Amino acid sequence: MHGVPDLCCISPGIKARLLWQGLCGKDQDEQRWSEIGDCEALTPYGVLDVTGAVSFDSATFRHVLGHYPTGVCVVTALEADGAAAGMVVGSFTSVSLDPPLVAFFPAKSSESWPRIERAGKFCVNILASDQQPLCRQLAGKQLDKFAGVTHRLSEGGSPILDGVVAWIDCQLDAVHGAGDHYIVLGRVTALEVEKPGKPLLFFQGGYGEFTQFI
Ligand SMILES: Cc1cc2nc3c(=O)[nH]c(=O)nc-3n(C[C@H](O)[C@H](O)[C@H](O)COP(=O)(O)O)c2cc1C
Repeated sequence: MHGVPDLCCISPGIKARLLWQGLCGKDQDEQRWSEIGDCEALTPYGVLDVTGAVSFDSATFRHVLGHYPTGVCVVTALEADGAAAGMVVGSFTSVSLDPPLVAFFPAKSSESWPRIERAGKFCVNILASDQQPLCRQLAGKQLDKFAGVTHRLSEGGSPILDGVVAWIDCQLDAVHGAGDHYIVLGRVTALEVEKPGKPLLFFQGGYGEFTQFI
């Protein structure tokens, strides 16, 4: 079992973090837990800062983060049996130029991610603003997500979807656990703008496209 730190010597916020991380707990030390009773309001996303009690729930987390727009990509891979795997992600980002690295964050609950991971390589397809129906299809859980989805294979061997704005072909570089998601790094092997135009955007639960200020 973890050693129980002396909670009398540290600030309330730090105490809360220690409890939350499971370093000590109600069962182990009822009295110390009661010193910071507001910890009981913590949720899986709840955190107390070093100044005291600030807590929030998962709905608040989603609501606030929903104010940040993202693009929409489909990460694709080809499995050993020739079946295409793919998942929609809004969490795609460029990471490093030298070496060329990109990243996305699949949920640990994703059924497509293990299939992509097994392939050891993947292609990030940046969806165009007119590809919302394709997005909805590939974000689903149905068995044959790729039914009717036209695509070709990249030189690296991963599916490039017809009509996307651009694609980025990658070798799987690293996977790090991060809470209920993974941080996946891809080393870029090839990339191209396929169809210059507006990408599909996702904002506060809805889809749209970019409009430049005049
Ligand atoms: C706009 C949008 C963005 C999404 N972004 C992510 C993401 O970044 N990471 C993730 O794991 N799932 C994301 N999803 C959910 C997945 O696309 C998909 O629904 C989920 O992975 C379930 O399918 P799977 O079990 O086949 O992976 C997103 C869905 C939508 C519609």
